[in-house]
Formats: sequence, structure tokens, C-alpha cells
Amino acid sequence: MKVLVACEFSGTVRDAFIKKGHDAISCDLLPTEKPGPHYQGDVLDILDDGFDLMIAHPTCTYLTNTAVQWLYAPDNQGKILKGKPRWEALDKSAEFFTKLLNANIPQICIENPIPHKYAVARIGRKYDQLVQPYMFGHPEKKATCLWLKGLPKLKQTNNVFREMQKLPKSQQQKIFYMSPNKDRWKERSRTYQGIADAMAEQWG
Ligand SMILES: C[S@@+](CC[C@H](N)C(=O)[O-])C[C@H]1O[C@@H](n2cnc3c(N)ncnc32)[C@H](O)[C@@H]1O
Repeated sequence: MKVLVACEFSGTVRDAFIKKGHDAISCDLLPTEKPGPHYQGDVLDILDDGFDLMIAHPTCTYLTNTAVQWLYAPDNQGKILKGKPRWEALDKSAEFFTKLLNANIPQICIENPIPHKYAVARIGRKYDQLVQPYMFGHPEKKATCLWLKGLPKLKQTNNVFREMQKLPKSQQQKIFYMSPNKDRWKERSRTYQGIADAMAEQWG
């Protein structure tokens, strides 16, 4: 299968598919962290290159429910985009998301955190499935939504919810408690190996 893993710098999903014998390539504006087939540039340049399956992880900054409050803050171009400029950024992000969702590729999965209602309205529909890392062998919580086209829902492979509950909150929600540093967003956004493996196993 010819697989495009869009908006991926980590190579995690790409390499899971390659391991299963597929012809997979990742694409990101950033270079790939791990050597392997990678297109560094805008994914819209290669969307029509005849892929059978695309898994995409577009930037969630302006779509995610956890940051919805900034839409109603006074306009401010400081560190965090607020007010009107944020609504404009939301429009652009939702447009990009929709282009991926409507791409001419038979099987598509787009992954993102829980969106706010303004994002859902612009994208045109709610997600199809919500998964958690603890369903795939990682004793952690991070709600991850999947919008699916031509693909069945992802089945959990190793549910470690009980083991996770014995851990302190700071470990269960490692991502949330991560201390601030310049690469924190990368650590927070990297796809979990268990989820990548399940995608390659079940959709490859
Ligand atoms: C939330 S991160 C996803 C990271 C991914 N889960 C991984 O494991 O590498 C979103 C990524 O989308 C990339 N991106 C944003 N716009 C893009 C575009 N037009 N084309 C390709 N990549 C893009 C960003 O550079 C960023 O690395």
C-alpha cells in the first residue's frame, strides 16, 4: 500500500507501516527526526500523488477545546494569539483540516485532540472515534479523536487502564504535567507507538 503520513516529524506512524512492508512516506514542514522516506514541505503539494491511505496529524493549536477561551480574550498579538487574529487563525486551520479530510485518497484518518464547537462547525462534522493511549499499552491519558473515511474504527490492542489508575496523576497525564521548555510541544504531539502499531496492523 502507498501510505502518506501527513504532518509527522517523528516518523513513528511511517516506520510502523514500513515495518509491515508498506510503501510509506512522512511529510512535515520540519525535517524528519528519524532517517526514512520524508517530504519536507507543504503536504498539499503531494496530496494527489496516488496514495491509498493517508494518516494526518494537523496542528491543533486553534482547533482544540483546551484553548477555546483565547477566542474571546481581547485582541492581543502577544505570545498567545487572542481575539480576532485567533478567529482568523482558526479559519485557516479548519480550512487546512478540511482539505485533508476531503482529499482524493480512498482511506483517510485525521487525528487531533477534542475540538471546540467552532472548529466542528467549520470542519463540518464531529470525529468518528475517541481513543486513549491506555487502550494501546501506554498507562497514560490523552484524548485523541479520529476522523475516518473508508476505514473501520481502531480496535484497542492492550488496555492498561487498571495499571494506569495505580499511578500518580502526574504520570497518568504526563503530557499535561510536562515542564515548559522550547521542545515541549514536540514531546506533547508525538504519536504514541502503541497507536501507530495498531494503525499499521489494522489498516495496513
Ligand atoms: C501536532 S504536530 C504532529 C506531530 C506528529 N504526531 C508526530 O508524531 O510527528 C503537527 C505537525 O504538522 C506540521 N504541519 C503544519 N502544517 C503543515 C503543512 N502544511 N504541511 C506539512 N506539515 C505541516 C507541523 O510542522 C507539525 O510538526
